[in-house]
Amino acid sequence: MFNIILFGPPGSGKGTQSEKLIAAYGLKHLSTGDLLRTEIANKTPLGIEAKTIMDKGQLVPDEVVVGMISSALENNPQAKGFLFDGFPRTTAQSEALDKLLQLKNTEIGVVLAMDVSEEELVKRLLNRGLTSGRSDDTNETVIRARIKEYQDKTTVVANYYSQFNKVVHLKGEGTVEEIFSSLCSEIDKRMSN
Ligand code: AP5
Repeated sequence: MFNIILFGPPGSGKGTQSEKLIAAYGLKHLSTGDLLRTEIANKTPLGIEAKTIMDKGQLVPDEVVVGMISSALENNPQAKGFLFDGFPRTTAQSEALDKLLQLKNTEIGVVLAMDVSEEELVKRLLNRGLTSGRSDDTNETVIRARIKEYQDKTTVVANYYSQFNKVVHLKGEGTVEEIFSSLCSEIDKRMSN
Protein backbone atom coordinates (compact mmCIF):
# COMPACT_ATOMS: atom_id res chain seq x y z
CA MET A 1 0.00 0.00 0.00
CA PHE A 2 1.35 3.46 -0.89
CA ASN A 3 -0.26 6.54 0.71
CA ILE A 4 0.24 10.15 -0.35
CA ILE A 5 -0.61 13.48 1.23
CA LEU A 6 -1.11 16.21 -1.36
CA PHE A 7 -0.34 19.34 0.59
CA GLY A 8 -0.65 23.05 -0.08
CA PRO A 9 -2.69 26.18 0.58
CA PRO A 10 -6.24 26.75 -0.66
CA GLY A 11 -6.14 27.03 -4.45
CA SER A 12 -2.73 25.40 -4.84
CA GLY A 13 -4.17 22.72 -7.14
CA LYS A 14 -4.73 19.80 -4.76
CA GLY A 15 -8.13 18.85 -6.21
CA THR A 16 -6.98 19.33 -9.82
CA GLN A 17 -3.88 17.18 -9.40
CA SER A 18 -5.68 14.58 -7.24
CA GLU A 19 -7.97 13.67 -10.13
CA LYS A 20 -5.01 12.99 -12.38
CA LEU A 21 -2.98 11.16 -9.72
CA ILE A 22 -5.76 8.75 -8.72
CA ALA A 23 -6.27 7.89 -12.39
CA ALA A 24 -2.53 7.31 -12.88
CA TYR A 25 -1.85 5.31 -9.69
CA GLY A 26 -5.20 3.71 -8.85
CA LEU A 27 -5.37 5.28 -5.38
CA LYS A 28 -8.50 6.05 -3.37
CA HIS A 29 -9.04 9.83 -3.19
CA LEU A 30 -9.98 11.14 0.28
CA SER A 31 -10.76 14.87 0.34
CA THR A 32 -12.14 16.19 3.64
CA GLY A 33 -13.41 19.29 1.81
CA ASP A 34 -15.43 17.09 -0.59
CA LEU A 35 -16.71 14.93 2.30
CA LEU A 36 -17.83 18.07 4.16
CA ARG A 37 -19.53 19.52 1.06
CA THR A 38 -21.45 16.22 0.65
CA GLU A 39 -22.68 16.59 4.25
CA ILE A 40 -23.72 20.19 3.47
CA ALA A 41 -25.55 19.14 0.30
CA ASN A 42 -27.40 16.43 2.28
CA LYS A 43 -28.26 19.00 4.99
CA THR A 44 -27.07 16.68 7.78
CA PRO A 45 -26.55 18.16 11.28
CA LEU A 46 -22.77 17.84 10.74
CA GLY A 47 -23.09 19.63 7.38
CA ILE A 48 -25.17 22.47 8.81
CA GLU A 49 -22.62 23.05 11.58
CA ALA A 50 -19.65 22.76 9.20
CA LYS A 51 -21.09 25.23 6.68
CA THR A 52 -21.09 28.08 9.21
CA ILE A 53 -17.41 27.45 9.94
CA MET A 54 -16.38 26.94 6.30
CA ASP A 55 -18.15 30.12 5.19
CA LYS A 56 -15.86 32.06 7.56
CA GLY A 57 -12.77 30.37 6.12
CA GLN A 58 -11.98 28.62 9.41
CA LEU A 59 -11.09 25.00 10.10
CA VAL A 60 -13.73 22.48 11.16
CA PRO A 61 -12.88 20.79 14.54
CA ASP A 62 -10.28 18.04 14.39
CA GLU A 63 -12.57 15.35 15.83
CA VAL A 64 -15.11 15.90 13.04
CA VAL A 65 -12.65 15.44 10.16
CA VAL A 66 -10.70 12.65 11.88
CA GLY A 67 -14.02 10.79 12.36
CA MET A 68 -14.83 11.17 8.66
CA ILE A 69 -11.38 9.91 7.61
CA SER A 70 -11.55 7.00 10.04
CA SER A 71 -14.87 5.84 8.53
CA ALA A 72 -13.56 6.30 4.99
CA LEU A 73 -10.49 4.14 5.75
CA GLU A 74 -12.70 1.43 7.25
CA ASN A 75 -15.07 1.55 4.29
CA ASN A 76 -12.31 0.99 1.75
CA PRO A 77 -10.50 -2.19 2.87
CA GLN A 78 -9.55 -3.12 -0.70
CA ALA A 79 -7.80 0.17 -1.53
CA LYS A 80 -4.25 -0.22 -2.79
CA GLY A 81 -3.41 3.16 -1.28
CA PHE A 82 -4.94 6.51 -0.34
CA LEU A 83 -4.43 10.02 -1.64
CA PHE A 84 -5.21 12.50 1.13
CA ASP A 85 -6.28 15.94 -0.16
CA GLY A 86 -6.87 18.75 2.34
CA PHE A 87 -6.13 16.43 5.27
CA PRO A 88 -4.33 16.51 7.67
CA ARG A 89 -4.49 20.26 8.39
CA THR A 90 -3.24 20.37 12.00
CA THR A 91 -0.60 18.48 13.98
CA ALA A 92 -3.39 16.71 15.93
CA GLN A 93 -4.89 15.50 12.62
CA SER A 94 -1.44 14.29 11.48
CA GLU A 95 -0.92 12.30 14.67
CA ALA A 96 -4.43 10.82 14.43
CA LEU A 97 -3.85 9.83 10.79
CA ASP A 98 -0.56 8.11 11.62
CA LYS A 99 -2.33 6.05 14.31
CA LEU A 100 -5.18 5.10 11.96
CA LEU A 101 -2.70 4.00 9.28
CA GLN A 102 -0.68 2.03 11.82
CA LEU A 103 -3.81 0.01 12.60
CA LYS A 104 -3.82 -0.96 8.93
CA ASN A 105 -0.08 -1.75 9.02
CA THR A 106 0.70 1.07 6.67
CA GLU A 107 2.02 4.65 6.72
CA ILE A 108 2.39 7.84 4.69
CA GLY A 109 4.84 7.28 1.80
CA VAL A 110 5.32 10.91 0.82
CA VAL A 111 3.96 14.40 1.45
CA LEU A 112 3.94 16.43 -1.77
CA ALA A 113 3.80 20.12 -0.92
CA MET A 114 2.85 22.51 -3.72
CA ASP A 115 4.17 26.06 -3.26
CA VAL A 116 2.14 28.89 -4.83
CA SER A 117 2.30 32.66 -4.16
CA GLU A 118 -0.58 34.26 -2.24
CA GLU A 119 -1.56 36.56 -5.13
CA GLU A 120 -1.81 33.59 -7.53
CA LEU A 121 -3.97 31.69 -4.98
CA VAL A 122 -6.38 34.61 -4.59
CA LYS A 123 -6.59 35.06 -8.37
CA ARG A 124 -7.33 31.35 -8.96
CA LEU A 125 -9.99 31.15 -6.22
CA LEU A 126 -11.80 34.34 -7.21
CA ASN A 127 -11.82 33.06 -10.78
CA ARG A 128 -13.22 29.68 -9.70
CA GLY A 129 -15.81 31.49 -7.55
CA LEU A 130 -17.39 32.90 -10.72
CA THR A 131 -18.65 29.41 -11.63
CA SER A 132 -18.06 26.91 -8.78
CA GLY A 133 -20.99 27.75 -6.55
CA ARG A 134 -18.62 27.44 -3.55
CA SER A 135 -19.64 30.16 -1.12
CA ASP A 136 -16.11 30.29 0.33
CA ASP A 137 -14.70 31.29 -3.10
CA THR A 138 -16.82 34.34 -3.85
CA ASN A 139 -15.44 36.78 -1.30
CA GLU A 140 -11.79 37.91 -1.19
CA THR A 141 -11.94 38.48 2.58
CA VAL A 142 -12.94 34.85 3.16
CA ILE A 143 -10.31 33.62 0.68
CA ARG A 144 -7.60 35.55 2.55
CA ALA A 145 -8.95 34.20 5.88
CA ARG A 146 -8.57 30.63 4.50
CA ILE A 147 -4.98 31.39 3.50
CA LYS A 148 -4.26 32.88 6.94
CA GLU A 149 -5.79 29.82 8.65
CA TYR A 150 -3.46 27.69 6.51
CA GLN A 151 -0.42 29.77 7.51
CA ASP A 152 -1.35 29.79 11.21
CA LYS A 153 -2.48 26.19 11.69
CA THR A 154 -1.58 24.03 8.70
CA THR A 155 2.01 24.84 7.66
CA VAL A 156 3.12 22.98 10.84
CA VAL A 157 1.90 19.75 9.22
CA ALA A 158 4.87 19.94 6.82
CA ASN A 159 7.21 20.38 9.82
CA TYR A 160 5.64 17.34 11.47
CA TYR A 161 6.31 15.09 8.45
CA SER A 162 9.74 16.66 7.80
CA GLN A 163 11.02 15.02 10.98
CA PHE A 164 10.39 11.67 9.23
CA ASN A 165 12.00 12.95 6.00
CA LYS A 166 8.73 12.57 4.08
CA VAL A 167 8.19 16.06 2.64
CA VAL A 168 9.00 17.14 -0.91
CA HIS A 169 8.37 20.76 -1.93
CA LEU A 170 7.43 21.43 -5.56
CA LYS A 171 6.64 24.49 -7.60
CA GLY A 172 2.81 24.66 -7.81
CA GLU A 173 2.84 27.31 -10.56
CA GLY A 174 3.03 26.47 -14.24
CA THR A 175 0.74 24.37 -16.39
CA VAL A 176 -1.33 21.58 -14.84
CA GLU A 177 0.64 19.07 -16.97
CA GLU A 178 4.04 20.40 -15.85
CA ILE A 179 3.07 20.15 -12.19
CA PHE A 180 1.54 16.68 -12.68
CA SER A 181 4.75 15.49 -14.26
CA SER A 182 6.90 16.71 -11.35
CA LEU A 183 4.50 15.12 -8.84
CA CYS A 184 4.69 11.79 -10.72
CA SER A 185 8.46 11.81 -10.80
CA GLU A 186 8.61 12.29 -7.00
CA ILE A 187 6.05 9.52 -6.43
CA ASP A 188 7.87 7.13 -8.75
CA LYS A 189 11.16 7.73 -6.91
CA ARG A 190 9.59 6.94 -3.52
CA MET A 191 7.50 4.02 -4.77
CA SER A 192 10.52 2.26 -6.22
CA ASN A 193 12.45 2.49 -2.90
P1 AP5 B 1 -11.00 22.25 0.87
O1 AP5 B 1 -12.12 21.77 0.08
O2 AP5 B 1 -9.91 21.29 1.26
O3 AP5 B 1 -10.46 23.51 0.12
P2 AP5 B 1 -9.06 24.23 0.11
O4 AP5 B 1 -7.92 23.61 0.82
O5 AP5 B 1 -9.43 25.61 0.51
O6 AP5 B 1 -8.63 24.01 -1.32
P3 AP5 B 1 -9.37 24.27 -2.65
O7 AP5 B 1 -10.28 23.18 -3.03
O8 AP5 B 1 -9.97 25.64 -2.65
O9 AP5 B 1 -8.09 24.33 -3.59
P4 AP5 B 1 -7.17 23.16 -4.16
O10 AP5 B 1 -5.80 23.24 -3.58
O11 AP5 B 1 -7.86 21.84 -4.14
O12 AP5 B 1 -7.05 23.71 -5.64
P5 AP5 B 1 -7.92 23.31 -6.93
O13 AP5 B 1 -7.30 22.16 -7.63
O14 AP5 B 1 -9.35 23.21 -6.55
O15 AP5 B 1 -11.51 22.91 2.26
C1 AP5 B 1 -12.60 23.80 2.30
C2 AP5 B 1 -12.95 24.08 3.76
O16 AP5 B 1 -13.36 22.85 4.40
C3 AP5 B 1 -11.79 24.59 4.63
O17 AP5 B 1 -11.67 26.00 4.55
C4 AP5 B 1 -12.24 24.13 6.02
O18 AP5 B 1 -13.24 24.98 6.54
C5 AP5 B 1 -12.88 22.78 5.73
N1 AP5 B 1 -11.93 21.67 5.84
C6 AP5 B 1 -11.56 20.83 4.83
N2 AP5 B 1 -10.67 19.92 5.27
C7 AP5 B 1 -10.48 20.20 6.58
C8 AP5 B 1 -9.63 19.62 7.58
N3 AP5 B 1 -8.81 18.57 7.31
N4 AP5 B 1 -9.67 20.14 8.83
C9 AP5 B 1 -10.49 21.18 9.13
N5 AP5 B 1 -11.31 21.80 8.22
C10 AP5 B 1 -11.29 21.30 6.96
O19 AP5 B 1 -7.64 24.60 -7.83
C11 AP5 B 1 -8.17 25.87 -7.49
C12 AP5 B 1 -8.45 26.64 -8.80
O20 AP5 B 1 -7.21 26.86 -9.47
C13 AP5 B 1 -9.33 25.85 -9.78
O21 AP5 B 1 -10.18 26.74 -10.44
C14 AP5 B 1 -8.33 25.22 -10.76
O22 AP5 B 1 -8.88 25.03 -12.04
C15 AP5 B 1 -7.23 26.27 -10.78
N6 AP5 B 1 -5.90 25.69 -11.02
C16 AP5 B 1 -5.43 24.49 -10.56
N7 AP5 B 1 -4.17 24.30 -10.99
C17 AP5 B 1 -3.83 25.40 -11.72
C18 AP5 B 1 -2.64 25.79 -12.41
N8 AP5 B 1 -1.56 25.03 -12.44
N9 AP5 B 1 -2.63 27.00 -13.04
C19 AP5 B 1 -3.73 27.81 -13.00
N10 AP5 B 1 -4.91 27.48 -12.37
C20 AP5 B 1 -4.94 26.29 -11.73
